[in-house]
Amino acid sequence: MRPHVVAQVAVSVDGVTSGFAVDQARFYALATLWQEDVTLIGADTILAQEQALRSTERRAVRAAGPVLAVVDSRARVREWESLRELGYWSDVLALYADQTPARPLDSVIPELITGYDRVDLAEALELLGSRHHAQVVRVDSSGRLLAVLLELGLVDELALLVHPVVVGSGRRWAPAERYDLRLANAVEFEGGVVWLRYCMS
Ligand SMILES: NC(=O)c1ccc[n+]([C@@H]2O[C@H](COP(=O)([O-])OP(=O)(O)OC[C@H]3O[C@@H](n4cnc5c(N)ncnc54)[C@H](OP(=O)(O)O)[C@@H]3O)[C@@H](O)[C@H]2O)c1
Repeated sequence: MRPHVVAQVAVSVDGVTSGFAVDQARFYALATLWQEDVTLIGADTILAQEQALRSTERRAVRAAGPVLAVVDSRARVREWESLRELGYWSDVLALYADQTPARPLDSVIPELITGYDRVDLAEALELLGSRHHAQVVRVDSSGRLLAVLLELGLVDELALLVHPVVVGSGRRWAPAERYDLRLANAVEFEGGVVWLRYCMS
């Protein structure tokens, strides 16, 4: 069975996902509310942090933590061991497709293969449920991966952490299509950050 899929995005008032100081502590504190079994992240989000990952202190694997699953059809991610040892996740899982380029022969990264030239996100979620016993998957994406998941009807909940700033230019989280949402909760925090939690109706 497909797990419950939630996505949380840090945005400006005009829906831009970068170019302002994200309240990271608040973002991750709120993210823990879902107690996800799997954190689903796109390769681009990991690649944006790879430089920093290389110099981050390694920690013990967090046995009780979620599994980090990275959508990486082109096998671009390299810092798997650093990710595993960030101290947040219990393990890592590479989501690949049939046509994903060959991995290093000595690679020991667990893989889940779906789709032909790109990861089949619907099948991947089903398998995360059936093989990995995931009940809750939290998506961490600024928009591209999230837009595809929304388009495929694979998102159950969406939370926006709205920061009190208008950025003006930059990539927006919102997809091009219309979605009707049902507000489940709204909380205002110190500093004017507002958390809006929606169910997909
Ligand atoms: N503000 C926030 O809350 C927030 C959260 C997360 C990340 N970020 C920032 O956002 C940036 C990256 O975000 P992004 O939106 O560009 O990328 P992303 O969310 O990481 O999504 C890109 C990933 O989605 C995959 N993908 C796209 N379409 C697909 C499809 N049809 N089928 C299967 N897989 C598909 C891509 O696959 P391929 O590898 O095949 O291209 C790629 O791995 C980074 O700078 C990061 O720091 C911000």
